[in-house]
Amino acid sequence: MFKKVKGFRDIFGDDIAYWELVEAKFKEIFPRFCYSEIKIPVLEKSELFVRGIGETTDIVEKEMFTFQDRDGSYLSLRPEGTASVVRAYIENKLYEPPSIKKYYYYGPMFRRERPQKGRFRQFYQLGVEAFGSESPLLDAEIIYLLYYFLNSFDLGDFLKMEINSIGCPDCRPKYKEKLIDYFKANIDKLCDDCKRRLDRNPMRILDCKIDSCKEVVKEAPIILDNLCDVCNEHFEKLKGYLRQFGVNFEVNPYIVRGLDYYVRTAFEMVTDKLGASSAVGAGGRYDGLIKDLGGPDIPGIGFAIGVDRLVELLKLKKEIKAFDVDVYVITFEDFTEIAINVCSDLRNLGIKTSLSYDLGSIKSEMKKANRLNAKYVIIIGDDEVKTGEFAVKNMETGEQIKLSKEKILEFFKNR
Ligand code: HAM
Repeated sequence: MFKKVKGFRDIFGDDIAYWELVEAKFKEIFPRFCYSEIKIPVLEKSELFVRGIGETTDIVEKEMFTFQDRDGSYLSLRPEGTASVVRAYIENKLYEPPSIKKYYYYGPMFRRERPQKGRFRQFYQLGVEAFGSESPLLDAEIIYLLYYFLNSFDLGDFLKMEINSIGCPDCRPKYKEKLIDYFKANIDKLCDDCKRRLDRNPMRILDCKIDSCKEVVKEAPIILDNLCDVCNEHFEKLKGYLRQFGVNFEVNPYIVRGLDYYVRTAFEMVTDKLGASSAVGAGGRYDGLIKDLGGPDIPGIGFAIGVDRLVELLKLKKEIKAFDVDVYVITFEDFTEIAINVCSDLRNLGIKTSLSYDLGSIKSEMKKANRLNAKYVIIIGDDEVKTGEFAVKNMETGEQIKLSKEKILEFFKNR
């Protein structure tokens, strides 16, 4: 027997109802903010992610599914969507004519992380990217979109919006030096991972989940005290606009993000309901990325929601049943034509209708209807065909009535 690959999973049954809810909602809400869909490939040249996400990030160092193609080139399953959308933006010259461009995307991403609650090796992201404005008003609107979308599921009490500024190439290097000096003075208290991070990516230490490191981090210098004037003004304006949008947020100076492309604004919508996997959606500004990947110097900002995690939260909040079958039509060898017609008419009315294929006994077909959770059963047998009236049974109440075909259609049209 074959088993699925570690960290990968099958999603089916009632779970699908939650996924459909999320999918219907984003198709409704994102276009209201003038985002249009972009479909990007699941496979890219590995170099795109190495350059885009950053060589010293966990994702690039140890989490990508990478393989060598027959022509010798290296390809990777996408670990996230931003690098791909930026590649598509540059390659298709979507920056012409110059204006704001806003895209959303949805699909599976792949990271070889240690699987745990809310963390999978194939997971789904719903992301947005907006290109062409440096204004903190766009940052605020994007954060508002994440907030508005997640709150539209009535998850307000499960979620908290946290924001930070992580500076820019002007102020961050100086801050990193301070940080390195501070951590070097406390090196004995850091875990092995953080000791390794110290020279390569010291800000990641701020994000370490190990208790001894957390203690050291408490006294570490914070980026917000070390921002340049431009970043400071951007952050102050952002907070003002967020209040105007009505976003409830907290400043968390320890948000650093696990991808290297960010400048200034970084944000995360977090929950304490999913163990260590606390971010349900996260993003930030990445003004140098388009240029770094060979395009014009155009700013960008975006976020991605982890749909698997959102679905886990929705399951905690409310129970949704996937009622797969509205009507189960039971019939027998001689009456299949009538049954096929009844099914077609019901399906044309938009009713989810299933036919009994095995043409067995009423008893065994009723059992099947029960197992399928059918709301109604229609029986088309000898008696029914003779009288022209079919038995319609409500499976929830057990009530049974007899109706002609026309009346059946009327009955279901009104439901
Ligand atoms: P990220 O923080 O790496 O950002 O991922 C965004 C979200 O994807 C996370 O908050 C989480 O909900 C979900 N996620 C990440 N890894 C996993 C996993 N292994 N299993 C389940 N869910 C996961 C990005 O990917 C950026 N591209 C976001 C962005 C867009 N920034 C700007 N534009």
